[in-house]
Amino acid sequence: MASILVTGGTGTLGRPLVEILRLAGHDVRVFSRAAGGDLSTGAGLDAALAGGPVVVHCASDTKHAGKSDVYAARNLVRASGLAGVPHLVYISIVGIDRIPFGYYTRKLAVERLIEGGPVPWTILRATQFHELIDGIAGTLSRSPVMPVVKGVGFQPIAAAEVAAMLAELAEGEPMGRVRDVGGPEVRSLGDLVDAYKKGRRKRRLVVTLPAWGRLVGSLRAGANLAPQDAVGRQTWTEYLHSAR
Ligand SMILES: NC(=O)c1ccc[n+]([C@@H]2O[C@H](COP(=O)([O-])OP(=O)(O)OC[C@H]3O[C@@H](n4cnc5c(N)ncnc54)[C@H](OP(=O)(O)O)[C@@H]3O)[C@@H](O)[C@H]2O)c1
Repeated sequence: MASILVTGGTGTLGRPLVEILRLAGHDVRVFSRAAGGDLSTGAGLDAALAGGPVVVHCASDTKHAGKSDVYAARNLVRASGLAGVPHLVYISIVGIDRIPFGYYTRKLAVERLIEGGPVPWTILRATQFHELIDGIAGTLSRSPVMPVVKGVGFQPIAAAEVAAMLAELAEGEPMGRVRDVGGPEVRSLGDLVDAYKKGRRKRRLVVTLPAWGRLVGSLRAGANLAPQDAVGRQTWTEYLHSAR
């Protein structure tokens, strides 16, 4: 049994991770603003790191495109080094070094901080979670017309499956950057939205829009995909049925 601190333990990924680790018998601490701490100011961090637990870093200011994520990581890495943390596990995203998107640039900076820091580390990059695509499709479906970009695909994976992989990594030795993980299938955005409409019984008009630029170009080139590492099991359609 290990002592494990999960930053972002109240989020989409953190919740199932905390559950898996607790079921495995670990002593799990949760760090988030709702739980009274704040990585961007460092508040509550020293107390949370007392005794030098393994840290799984899932916290991210996703609502503000990760604006404070680099400060947060700097505080976490410094405090973890001082507390004698033996292993820092970080969840990152497939293709962040090839996709020109502000949130991803910040995640790449966080990866670099962890790699250059004093704590032995493991970094796992995953493709988009089903839950994220669900949220985006839900927002788009508020309007009678759902716009999609042609030629862009995704390979969504269940957050709970990524949580299980992170739990295993947290129980093991630091491994540096490990193999990327992706969902079981690559599907076009239009196809994902069609399945969403069917699964959620929504009547909406789906319109394919022309789009260009470096961001769309990198997505069209498949920089967000890991087809050779399609280890996820739950498909998007299965997710839609289970999350009804
Ligand atoms: N969503 C995806 O498709 C996807 C795919 C691959 C990798 N990832 C990565 O997985 C991680 C988790 O994503 P998620 O979807 O679970 O995000 P989420 O649901 O938005 O959860 C974010 C968590 O971070 C905490 N948090 C945010 N700012 C904080 C701060 N300053 N101090 C302490 N805690 C803070 C939040 O709790 P409070 O608000 O209470 O602080 C929450 O628990 C992120 O690093 C993300 O980049 C996500």
